[in-house]
Amino acid sequence: MNFGILLLPQINKITVLGSGIMGHGIAQVSAMNGYNVVLRDIEERFLESAMNKIRWSLDKLVEKNKINKQESDKIHGRIKPIVELKEALDDTDLLIEAVPEDLKLKKKVYSEVDQFAQEKTIYSSNTSTLPISEISQLTSRPDRFIGLHFFNPPQLMKLVEVIPGASTAESIVDLGINFVKSLSKDPILCNKDVPGFIVNRIFIPLVHEAAYCLDNDSKSMTQIDSAVKFKMYLPMGIFELADYTGLDVIHRATIEMYSRDKKVVNPHPKIEQLFSSGKYGKKSGDGFYSYGDKNYERVPLSEEEAKQYDPIRILSVAINNAAWLISNGVCTREDVELALKLGMGLKKELFEIGKESGFEKIINTLNQLVGTNGSFYTPDPYLKTIST
Ligand SMILES: NC(=O)c1ccc[n+]([C@@H]2O[C@H](COP(=O)([O-])OP(=O)(O)OC[C@H]3O[C@@H](n4cnc5c(N)ncnc54)[C@H](O)[C@@H]3O)[C@@H](O)[C@H]2O)c1
Repeated sequence: MNFGILLLPQINKITVLGSGIMGHGIAQVSAMNGYNVVLRDIEERFLESAMNKIRWSLDKLVEKNKINKQESDKIHGRIKPIVELKEALDDTDLLIEAVPEDLKLKKKVYSEVDQFAQEKTIYSSNTSTLPISEISQLTSRPDRFIGLHFFNPPQLMKLVEVIPGASTAESIVDLGINFVKSLSKDPILCNKDVPGFIVNRIFIPLVHEAAYCLDNDSKSMTQIDSAVKFKMYLPMGIFELADYTGLDVIHRATIEMYSRDKKVVNPHPKIEQLFSSGKYGKKSGDGFYSYGDKNYERVPLSEEEAKQYDPIRILSVAINNAAWLISNGVCTREDVELALKLGMGLKKELFEIGKESGFEKIINTLNQLVGTNGSFYTPDPYLKTIST
């Protein structure tokens, strides 16, 4: 492993705000790539737990001979846990905010940060669903604010969506992209600050669509999931992936996305029901499926069951949303494919899968859905351009 050879000269010190699921991982990845990091949370005990998790993760890398003990200690030593905000922000070049997904809380956090951050500090947020432009306007420096959307777990996931807000300076976009590269990760530029950015704009609606298919198509969850896995080339079924991601996360993302644009997702009540009854998926033992307490428990899916279902409706919605991103200049077709490969583990290009099913069939499926379920399903004009 090469550490630190790509360090950005403008960035010596990083402050990560929030040491939870994402924050501690981002801090670790930054330190592994040579940066000096301050990890800040509101209580000592959260930081203690985060530093223990980082130690555990580094120990695993030592066990696997990816790094040696000395390197592990050096990386751990580059991360300074600090509760005091003023001290945590002292001399920081880049702030990465990873506090809970709540605009009110983020607003409060940025107003505190603005009191202490030096002029040179660039702000970034790891938000999954809140608009970057809106958050940036809450701060003293919307021109030096950028979305850096890491995926969970940051230690393993290569994808980072880079999202400029309406006022973000070009130089900050370049810096964001280069910073992500310096972490040995793959940045994908999300040119427009749209709800769900790229991956969630495709993933979240799919979960809802699969729930509609379950209502309408007289098939079991494992039949639909098997078809999604073996015919749409996802690494697991869509219900299984929803359980793995967390129904709480999906519920929140749905609300945020839907409240901003009714055309992004067609919410199915099942998600709300599961969330309200505390069925968050794998983490709570119950979601679409029920789970035991084994860590890597998987739902049994088979090619045999896949033969019993054509996931055309789910595929059509995925392709339609990908087409929307392209025709609206959010990203290129190549970027959508790379984002889906790295962010959702898609094993084949989405538009290749579409071609195999036939774009005419996809457009017809969407048009039928417009007839029965409304304009949410209107085929994007981009589909016509590739179907002929
Ligand atoms: N969990 C995911 O899968 C995931 C993936 C991508 C992006 N995100 C985004 O990352 C952000 C953080 O999510 P998470 O899952 O890591 O949340 P989390 O709840 O695991 O961690 C948030 C941490 O922030 C701390 N915190 C609260 N107020 C703070 C403050 N004023 N200063 C510093 N720390 C504070 C909390 O104590 C907690 O430790 C959210 O915006 C979320 O949307 C989450």
